[in-house]
Amino acid sequence: MSHSDVRFTERLRLESMDVRHADDLFALYRDPAVAEWYGEWTREQIDLEVARTARCWRVDGVHKWMAYDRVTDEVVGRGGLSRKHLDGDEHLELGWALHQRFWGHGYAAEIGRAGLRMAFDELDADEVVSFTETRNKRSRAVMERLGFHYRRNFSLRGEPFALYAFPRPEQPPTTAGASAE
Ligand SMILES: CC(C)(COP(=O)(O)OP(=O)(O)OC[C@H]1O[C@@H](n2cnc3c(N)ncnc32)[C@H](O)[C@@H]1OP(=O)(O)O)[C@@H](O)C(=O)NCCC(=O)NCCS
Repeated sequence: MSHSDVRFTERLRLESMDVRHADDLFALYRDPAVAEWYGEWTREQIDLEVARTARCWRVDGVHKWMAYDRVTDEVVGRGGLSRKHLDGDEHLELGWALHQRFWGHGYAAEIGRAGLRMAFDELDADEVVSFTETRNKRSRAVMERLGFHYRRNFSLRGEPFALYAFPRPEQPPTTAGASAE
């Protein structure tokens, strides 16, 4: 499987994250509205993060994308799927973070829909999960808009998190075996 993944949504170009994206990820995490949720990252931590992400693309065939405006090429944010361990089981987790100037335009949901399509159409997932601090209303609203169902709260790094899940959609009924005219 190719680990250099570029795909397009209606308004975005999604690029599998690797070391070429370090400057853009650093700038995103320095946006105060993003840092409020992700904390302060040093450049060294970002360099390690993009290297780790590139490794996950190579090994797992999936991880986060950097998202760019298809027309202007501006960095909109980052998001997509990654494999996470939760309660001892591996899950496909969907997430998003946008520069604040791009909030309120549906870009997180657009990234989310691309992630759901990849999970079910390409990775044959049984379900996708998403989680955030219980007080992160905007992120929870994205999950709910996409059709995730709230499952339960859990504790992560001493903070209460809300866990949501999106089950594999029902397949349309097969026509195999239908009687011929
Ligand atoms: C969480 C986060 C990505 C949500 O971003 P967002 O812009 O609120 O979410 P969306 O991109 O789905 O946009 C939805 C909003 O755009 C509006 N919108 C405008 N045009 C739209 C369109 N074409 N399609 C869909 N929605 C559109 C919706 O009505 C909605 O508005 P509302 O917030 O007033 O109800 C953003 O707040 C963020 O980056 N936060 C910091 C990082 C973070 O917390 N990440 C999650 C950690 S788990």
